[in-house]
Amino acid sequence: MGMEAPVPQDDKQRPNDRTFVFRAPEELDGRPAQKRIATNNMQSRTILITGGAGFIGSHLIRLFVNKYPHYRIVNLDALTYAGNLENLRDVEQATKYSFIKADIRDADVLSQLFAEHNFDSVIHLAAESHVDRSISNPMAFVQTNVIGTVNLLNVAKTAWKGKFEGKRFYHVSTDEVYGSLHDGGFFTEETSYDPKSPYSASKGASDHFVRAYGNTYNLPFVISNCSNNYGSHQFPEKLIPLMIHNLREGKPLPVYGKGENVRDWLWVEDHARAIDVVFHEGKDGETYNIGGHNEWKNIDLIHVLCSVMDKKLGRTAGESAKQITYVTDRAGHDLRYAIDASKIDRELGWKPSITFEDGLEQTVDWYLANDQWLRDVTTGAYREYYDEQYAKR
Ligand SMILES: NC(=O)c1ccc[n+]([C@@H]2O[C@H](COP(=O)([O-])OP(=O)(O)OC[C@H]3O[C@@H](n4cnc5c(N)ncnc54)[C@H](O)[C@@H]3O)[C@@H](O)[C@H]2O)c1
Repeated sequence: MGMEAPVPQDDKQRPNDRTFVFRAPEELDGRPAQKRIATNNMQSRTILITGGAGFIGSHLIRLFVNKYPHYRIVNLDALTYAGNLENLRDVEQATKYSFIKADIRDADVLSQLFAEHNFDSVIHLAAESHVDRSISNPMAFVQTNVIGTVNLLNVAKTAWKGKFEGKRFYHVSTDEVYGSLHDGGFFTEETSYDPKSPYSASKGASDHFVRAYGNTYNLPFVISNCSNNYGSHQFPEKLIPLMIHNLREGKPLPVYGKGENVRDWLWVEDHARAIDVVFHEGKDGETYNIGGHNEWKNIDLIHVLCSVMDKKLGRTAGESAKQITYVTDRAGHDLRYAIDASKIDRELGWKPSITFEDGLEQTVDWYLANDQWLRDVTTGAYREYYDEQYAKR
């Protein structure tokens, strides 16, 4: 095992002996919600957002298209199994928004797109994102997460030709790069990287490349490392949508090991808000941790989800929990991730907006109301939408 993450200074004030820790916004303190320090969001911008058809990317695109209608936003996505344009139907007609199907592994295409669109900013989310898939096919993660990121850095560096005023390369990353916590403590922005899975190693490598381009070529960058997201439009291979789907279908709920692994959960729309704040107000060269102050053991979270589903599906209390099935643990499964998100709160005024209970209920309601979406992604039928909409363009 690697180094233990340092405990933040204010750790004594943090409860770390329970599985659920949520600080409601009103409990935080009376600081102003937004402290603008870097950029002007009234100016026009041309932003390349990669991975915008995925889970977090689609929430970010929706937020930006609605909040900044004067920005030109180009969504570049390869539409892998995780990318789904159905997620963006409500914004796809916006005048300054466009979608391009392209692969970040293809440096030539990226160069052409930069020449054509004159991007002043990149918000980079495209990635292979599922740990289990990284265990069975690590090279796919090296190619997209590492080489794809370096391709983007290269084309941005070349296109911007050292004229970095008003330019920004924002790399969206994960708390998994910090490794696993065993005896309390939290990941801070200073915690040494200690990735344990091919996924987290590939994200860690991409973070290093971004910082190296900042250091070597002065490329203006920001990085954020976020905890586990949950919410609508998430591909049902990830814990919460998978459990909702299986609960509904009466299938077993597969729990790795004894379900002791602890994760910090953040509502995806709060992550999108945090990206907005870091993009506009974060300082060049800085890293911001983003988290929900909301730790749960997997098994406890699944029990809460089962109770919500009992209620929503009109089942008797305890009925859904009968579907829980313990399966062999994931290889090298990290025990605990816990993020110290105090820097983004202190410096940029961001904090989660809703409680986990509310976020979870909204999430369950969305999946139950969007049964067809869930069926389409599980059968792959959503790909037909792309063929209809875009193949002939
Ligand atoms: N989901 C989480 O809990 C979480 C937490 C922290 C950070 N992140 C990071 O946020 C980003 C987005 O995560 P997500 O959960 O939305 O992932 P996702 O798997 O839902 O979406 C990834 C998107 O990237 C696209 N993509 C994949 N390979 C590509 C390639 N070679 N070229 C172009 N596009 C490609 C996919 O089509 C998809 O639309 C990732 O970088 C991930 O590491 C995710």
